[in-house]
Amino acid sequence: MHFLKTLAVLPVLLASHAFASPLEKRVTVTQTGAIIAPVDGSSITPGTPFDFEYGDGWGDGCYPGFTSINVWLVDHEPTGSDLNSTYQFPDGDYLYYFGNFLIRNFDDLPPMSTPPPPSTLTLPEPLDSSYDDTEVYIAVVEELTSCVPTGYTKWGLESNNLQYSV
Ligand SMILES: *[C@@H]1O[C@H](CO)[C@@H](O)[C@H](O)[C@H]1NC(C)=O
Repeated sequence: MHFLKTLAVLPVLLASHAFASPLEKRVTVTQTGAIIAPVDGSSITPGTPFDFEYGDGWGDGCYPGFTSINVWLVDHEPTGSDLNSTYQFPDGDYLYYFGNFLIRNFDDLPPMSTPPPPSTLTLPEPLDSSYDDTEVYIAVVEELTSCVPTGYTKWGLESNNLQYSV
């Protein structure tokens, strides 16, 4: 877990991103929110739900109504440079994609078509047997489009290690 570490701006990624598409908004990768559950070292077994809770990291006097997160399972501790230009793990670079969820930051906001994060997640199928009894990582990529300077989108990446077994 990371506690309010705000760092890891990625100049190389920013540069290649800007070069690839000059009209794209400028972006920043920071480590921000926190994966509250599962904690580091939790076990993950196919077909068995595990607790999931994520605290979004955007605050400091300005809170967006909604925070979009994507949740993945990957086979190494991820860094911002693992993400492609749309801030997703490229196809083939992740073990499982749990989905896209929208955190409501205020109780009185209306329900949205994107579901809120569930309280449990499940890996439906076993991974390749080469991953048996190895460490894998749950990774959350968080997006913020409000409460940042106009034209910017901010992204946060968090991960916790999990012990995988069948
Ligand atoms: C990034 O990866 C995702 C798969 O997770 C893919 O759907 C998306 O098209 C990729 N973005 C780019 C710009 O290649």
